[in-house]
Amino acid sequence: MLDQKLIEKLIETAIGMTKMSYAPYSNFKVGAAVRMADGRIFTGSNQENAAYSACLCAERVTLLYVCANAGDSHPVSIAIAAVQNGDFIENIITPCGECCQVLVEMEKRFSTKIKLYLIGRNEVKTLESASELLPYAFHL
Ligand code: THU
Repeated sequence: MLDQKLIEKLIETAIGMTKMSYAPYSNFKVGAAVRMADGRIFTGSNQENAAYSACLCAERVTLLYVCANAGDSHPVSIAIAAVQNGDFIENIITPCGECCQVLVEMEKRFSTKIKLYLIGRNEVKTLESASELLPYAFHL
């Protein structure tokens, strides 16, 4: 498949995953799709809870599942989409600070950049690396 086709597939997958979100409290449904170095795609969506601190973003649901299950491959890109009150959000979605921290540590852990496709209603913004969003991430 052509590179552009693979990107489009990842983006479409993230958009589709908004339907799997459980967001009765915020009504903000987020979908994520992660491409692995070996070509596999893993997906996730945000999952909320009445105990709000137990809510988890779509990015971390997906990325942490990936690391728990993907064996010797690692993430190379992630597409993220969001639907608010039934409509795609107008502006692009950007991962929250905690998700950025997780992304940046995965870049370090796997010695790779993780590309981001941030989806909005009228535009998809591409970032080459999660560290662009969190240049001074915490490291131990
Ligand atoms: N959320 C995500 O899943 N990803 C983001 O990048 C931002 C926020 C979720 C968390 C919560 O379920 C809802 O969106 C509203 O904050």
